[in-house]
Amino acid sequence: VTVYVPRDSAARSVGADAIAEALRKAAAARNLPLTVVRNGSRGMLWLEPLVEVVTPEGRVGYGPVAPTDVDGLVDAGLLNGADHPLRLGVVDELPWLTRQTRVTFARVGVTDPLSPQDYERHGGLVGLRKALELPPAEVVASVTESGLRGRGGAGFPAGIKWKTVLDCADELKFVCCNADEGDSGTFADRMVMEGDPFMLIEGMTIAAHAVGAREGYVYLRSEYPDAVATMRAAIEIAREHNWLGKHILGSDLSFDLHVRVGAGAYICGEETSMLESLEGKRGVVRAKPPIPAIEGLFGKPTVVNNVLTLATVPVILADGAKPYQELGVERSRGTQVFQLGGNIARGGIVETAFGVTLRELIEDYGGGTLSGRPVRTVQVGGPLGAYLPTSMFDLPMDYEAFAAAGAMLGHGGVVVFDDTVDMAAQARFAMEFCAAESCGKCTPCRVGSVRGVEVIDRIVAGEQRDENLALLEDLCELMTDGSLCAMGGLTPMPVRSAITHFSDDFLARREGTA
Ligand code: NAI
Ligand code: SF4
Repeated sequence: VTVYVPRDSAARSVGADAIAEALRKAAAARNLPLTVVRNGSRGMLWLEPLVEVVTPEGRVGYGPVAPTDVDGLVDAGLLNGADHPLRLGVVDELPWLTRQTRVTFARVGVTDPLSPQDYERHGGLVGLRKALELPPAEVVASVTESGLRGRGGAGFPAGIKWKTVLDCADELKFVCCNADEGDSGTFADRMVMEGDPFMLIEGMTIAAHAVGAREGYVYLRSEYPDAVATMRAAIEIAREHNWLGKHILGSDLSFDLHVRVGAGAYICGEETSMLESLEGKRGVVRAKPPIPAIEGLFGKPTVVNNVLTLATVPVILADGAKPYQELGVERSRGTQVFQLGGNIARGGIVETAFGVTLRELIEDYGGGTLSGRPVRTVQVGGPLGAYLPTSMFDLPMDYEAFAAAGAMLGHGGVVVFDDTVDMAAQARFAMEFCAAESCGKCTPCRVGSVRGVEVIDRIVAGEQRDENLALLEDLCELMTDGSLCAMGGLTPMPVRSAITHFSDDFLARREGTA
């Protein structure tokens, strides 16, 4: 009997390793044949550790399982998929999953992340094999036609970026994957790297063929030790199978990949700081232009894409651009991997076509708050994203619709807060975060953020409220217009949204009522 127990760090953090061990022991004690496969996570994080048993019906899930449940489960007939209060049914048939459109996440949680056989059995390498039969320009055209936009947050068309690199005449070019995933409330990149690392390798290899690069880097944050280990192991396996290295799969393409681990700076997720860091220097933002596509790593043309962007490329090549392009709304095509977090009953990964509303994500998928109290606001797009009130929950998830509403989709993180949240404290936190994480290169951000904290403190203390609110607005305008990069440039977004939608929270607090 085969049993799946996730090796994803979210599952491990709630005891998946102990469950795997307890299952092995329980089966051995009863002389039952058992194979434990450590898969990625399905992204239903409130059900982790989620144990799945292969039965003739399909993979039957049990969760969340505690180590003390294991003996009882095995005695109740877990290995036959028997009934039990923790039995969830056939996992692939759970409405939470069937309502989603899993394209990028199709294999995550399903396969053994480090099994090359499993990868190929589930559609792996089809995209790469097709790409290798096409001239680079046609691969780029396919990515452009799919409508795929940068999933790191800015939403720049991936195909146009690739074409810029392809059009450069340089001998030496690079493909760099931004796996720094610094946004609060986001974890999709991590789950791809831990749950389906070959997909990212395949996507980067296709990118290398498309633009003429021979070397690539995955810039991974030190806070993700499991992802680092899994990516490194996957790269070794890929080399052994000639999915990386010289004459990949018998073609003319030679490409190799390396993992580099960051040192904990949020700003190293900004692409030019990331390149500085990759070059062994301190992570300080470079002025653009020149853009990295023309002068990137070591001054050479470089594709810099987020994990999700690169991981989506294989399926686009495998199935063609059209099916992907047909999903979504307006100029936001394909699917987005939304990450539901914060105070939410059912947190995790929801991959759907663009156009789903915030309300559907939070209420239908998320089931409201974990605390059971009313939702007051959500912050979408990381610490630099806007706080949206419930009156805006019918907003479709679409880059342009969000921009028009003074918000941003970013990397797809949705963090929920209940009615106990203090929005002045959240606004202050945005400035504080910027002050802590600023690279220090430009004044509006380096100094502005510190002044921002001070002025919010004065507002909340009731000191010349109107004057200080006007001063804060002036500061926000300066930071937006005068900062060199998105760190200082977008910090005003959460601050302004908090003031616009939750102005009462900025009223003076009397001592003892804060
Ligand atoms: P940007 O709009 O300056 O650039 C987007 C991308 O397009 C860059 O890679 C840039 O080099 C490229 N590009 C621009 N013009 C081009 C051209 N003509 N040809 C080829 N490539 C071109 O945005 P930026 O500063 O790179 O990113 C800001 C975004 O980052 C924010 O919107 C935010 O959502 C996101 N972000 C994401 C985080 C995460 O953890 N994923 C953390 C912080 C911010
Ligand atoms: Fe550095 Fe902030 Fe200026 Fe960006 S905005 S370059 S993080 S000081």
